[in-house]
Amino acid sequence: MAQAAIDAQTVSGAAVPARVLPKYESAVVNAFIGMTVLWAVFGMSAGVWLAAEMVWPVLNFDLPWLTFGRLRTVHTNSVVFGFGGSALIGTSFYVVQRTCRARLFAPGLSWMVFWGWQIGLLFGMATLFMGINTGKEYAELEWPLDIAIALVWVAYGIVFFGTIARRKIRPIYVANWFYGALIIVVAMLHIVNSAEMPVTAFKSFPLYAGSRDAIVQWWYGHNAVGFFLTGGFLGMMYYFLPKQAGNPTWSYRLSIASFWGFVFTYIWAGPHHLHYSAIPDWVQNLGMVMSIVLLLPSWGTMINGVMTLSGAWAKAARDPGLRFTALALAFYGLATFEGPMLAIKSVNAISHYTEWTVGHVHSGALGWNAFITFGALYFLVPAVSGRKLHSLRAANIHFFLALAGVGVYILSMWGAGVTQGLLWLSLDENGEVKYSFAEVMRAIEPYYLARFFGGVLFLAGALLMAWNFLMTAFPNDEEGEK
Ligand code: HEM
Ligand code: HEM
Repeated sequence: MAQAAIDAQTVSGAAVPARVLPKYESAVVNAFIGMTVLWAVFGMSAGVWLAAEMVWPVLNFDLPWLTFGRLRTVHTNSVVFGFGGSALIGTSFYVVQRTCRARLFAPGLSWMVFWGWQIGLLFGMATLFMGINTGKEYAELEWPLDIAIALVWVAYGIVFFGTIARRKIRPIYVANWFYGALIIVVAMLHIVNSAEMPVTAFKSFPLYAGSRDAIVQWWYGHNAVGFFLTGGFLGMMYYFLPKQAGNPTWSYRLSIASFWGFVFTYIWAGPHHLHYSAIPDWVQNLGMVMSIVLLLPSWGTMINGVMTLSGAWAKAARDPGLRFTALALAFYGLATFEGPMLAIKSVNAISHYTEWTVGHVHSGALGWNAFITFGALYFLVPAVSGRKLHSLRAANIHFFLALAGVGVYILSMWGAGVTQGLLWLSLDENGEVKYSFAEVMRAIEPYYLARFFGGVLFLAGALLMAWNFLMTAFPNDEEGEK
């Protein structure tokens, strides 16, 4: 089918009579949307508390479960897998039905995915608060939960690919390629990285040892960022951006070229997390080179998105959802420019172990992942509830709070990171390290305070959004849009 026809049918939804549309499964999508908002509020609150503990350490109240180490994993798991995961699974169920013109395959199984994911997360949070932790970043949950996650993920794959198999439109729209890659690659990463020997119900040891364990862990960690926080969200972008802008994807060919470039290159770049470590030099160099090459498919996608927006800028000024989506693209461009720079060994010598990494993470996590999700949610909540957004003013305020919040967050972390890196590398006349750890921490205290305020702004915006969605879905009067 010609490009224009695919876009007309799948993206702008042009001129398809309602009687030819199947009845889509929507309850499970709505449930995932609700949990996306709940996890956003919970996970970001944990993030703000963590940020506060860095300024006022007494805030852990000497309670083991509230210490930085435990709360940090609660934060990362709840935002990445709770907020991000619910958003990805929910939107993929919405998108795959519409772009395939097919009802969700095995609706019962889709509910198993929903309950399995949410209950698994609840157990995950409980064990992390209790300090039960494998010590592998982003793979902290112990072996019984690893098995449960694998089963839920396989069920997710069956529902998603089953729907693709019963599609009424022959070409598979590019958003589904990205969601599909998320499902296949994350299954592979999770199973290989979780290979472990259980010793008790809550303790296991990895099957890999030493530097081999580190390589497997960062092959997992980097590609979890790649296929979960990047690839999956690109799937979201390729559906909601054209939909909100009212334009078909600018270049379908570029989107497919970027997809293959992205899939092929990402998988090699993990060793940039292990620069100057005990792994072989050539592996580190390969990671560095592949990270720089990654700039091409990443920016290919960004340019495609920006061009899709052409002519829709006036609409973005009126529509806060589209504004979130458009800004998300800009942050995607920023994070995927900064990432390859951080992968260069001489830059990494300054940035590694500093807050610069945390700044990079949150320019991606807040500016890209959260913004693109907010954009999709502002489109979806009115669409699935069949009502106008309760308050456009609140959505506009949310946009400015979120933008100010992410700006303050990442600028403060860049400042802190560069300060830390330079102070740690300063030597005195005897060639000894000039500044003690405590001195460096004191120097960056003001940046921590600023980051806390940035986080408060971002969280306040998310709370406003939650209230707005609640009022849209369950109005207590017939006021309509304010
Ligand atoms: C071309 C794309 C990208 C490249 C080459 C890249 C590269 C890097 C590098 C070099 C680091 C620092 C490693 C270290 O010193 O420990 C890093 C950390 C990180 N990046 Fe990216 N990045 C990219 C895009 C993104 C995006 C879009 C996100 C989305 C959220 C992201 C999330 C992260 C996370 C979570 C970490 C921290 C990992 C950890 O140490 O826990 N990155 N990235
Ligand atoms: C109100 C919003 C948020 C605040 C205030 C916040 C704050 C924090 C803090 C204080 C840390 C610990 C940094 C450290 O170890 O020094 C952290 C880590 C992290 N956060 Fe957030 N966060 C927020 C939202 C998010 C979101 C939405 C995501 C993902 C979608 C995210 C992903 C992460 C990740 C992956 C790390 C680990 C970074 C690393 O290992 O380098 N955060 N966050």
